[in-house]
Amino acid sequence: MRRGTTLTRSLPNSARRAWTHLRSCWAISRHPLLPPTSRACVSRIVQLTVSHIPTFASRDSHPPSVSTGAVPSSTSRVAHAVKTSIPLIVSGNLPRFVANRYREARGRRRYLLRKAVPNSTRSWSVRRINSALKHVRDDSVYLEIGVNSGRTFEHVRARTKIAVEPTPLFETRKLPRRSRLFQCSSDDFFEATGDLSWDVVFVDGLHLFEQAYRDVLGGLRGLRHGGLVIIDDTVPTDEYTSRRDPTATREGLSSAWFGDVYKVVFLLSKFHPEVDFRTITGEHCQTLVWLLDDFVPPQPSEIQFRCKSIEGLTFERTFAQGVPPSFVHLMKIRPSTLG
Ligand SMILES: C[S@@+](CC[C@H](N)C(=O)[O-])C[C@H]1O[C@@H](n2cnc3c(N)ncnc32)[C@H](O)[C@@H]1O
Repeated sequence: MRRGTTLTRSLPNSARRAWTHLRSCWAISRHPLLPPTSRACVSRIVQLTVSHIPTFASRDSHPPSVSTGAVPSSTSRVAHAVKTSIPLIVSGNLPRFVANRYREARGRRRYLLRKAVPNSTRSWSVRRINSALKHVRDDSVYLEIGVNSGRTFEHVRARTKIAVEPTPLFETRKLPRRSRLFQCSSDDFFEATGDLSWDVVFVDGLHLFEQAYRDVLGGLRGLRHGGLVIIDDTVPTDEYTSRRDPTATREGLSSAWFGDVYKVVFLLSKFHPEVDFRTITGEHCQTLVWLLDDFVPPQPSEIQFRCKSIEGLTFERTFAQGVPPSFVHLMKIRPSTLG
């Protein structure tokens, strides 16, 4: 028996499939009957797999590090490539990863990874969401409002995942297993899906407070017992970041657009005795909201009235003394969710 066969036999199925895929790509790229252009194309895929694994790892797997100026030796590059490609192989994502490299190089939309890659990202959102999901039931359902290119969505580890995004920046024909995409606005989604429920909701759609508030209400309406709503970007870093108009961000005056989502925290504090919440300040500020009692969704006219009542809040007034105490509401913390 050949040594290679023995080795691949000891690997899990997904890894074996990925290995076979890569090997056949390599074989095809050298086949004499293949026209030279196709041969070059397949060969490029193989080359991209091997050469870009370290790049992927340094972008997604590690926090930015200060360069020492030392050029990594080829041995350490290979060791690093092997180390970082193992999670991709084991999770069965290698073929998609390779395909994405190829597609991105040609300006095409990437595929979402088939499965979450363990410990592959240092994103605060992913860590918090996954940490929250560990404490809910086994058949967990995750809902993300505003998915964009799916960089958070694809790393979330839930049994079922629901994406709501009017303009997805990923290939929508091949979604990961047990994932559903609703290609519409969040308002349309909540209107059409009164029967669905979920355990963790990530509210990261349009960053205007009226919309974010409606998204939180929609999320709370379908929240299962013990579930959690996570609202992104609730503490703006400066006045530019907090503007309703994202032009300042586009012009480079601020590094991100948080909009006036912070006003949602006031709405929760003022009008929702049935919820409790905690805002995580610091590096990546988010507010976690959970239910203390039954939730009764307010009427649209009531929502309008509430939004009108806090419309006049400004960044300067709100954050003059730092983060207001009402944001960090310490009555009933759920420590398990602070990943
Ligand atoms: C900040 S991005 C989301 C990033 C994503 N959650 C992540 O972590 O990678 C905001 C997204 O919200 C989407 N969006 C805008 N208006 C929306 C709406 N009314 N309903 C749902 N999504 C919306 C935008 O198209 C955009 O892709």
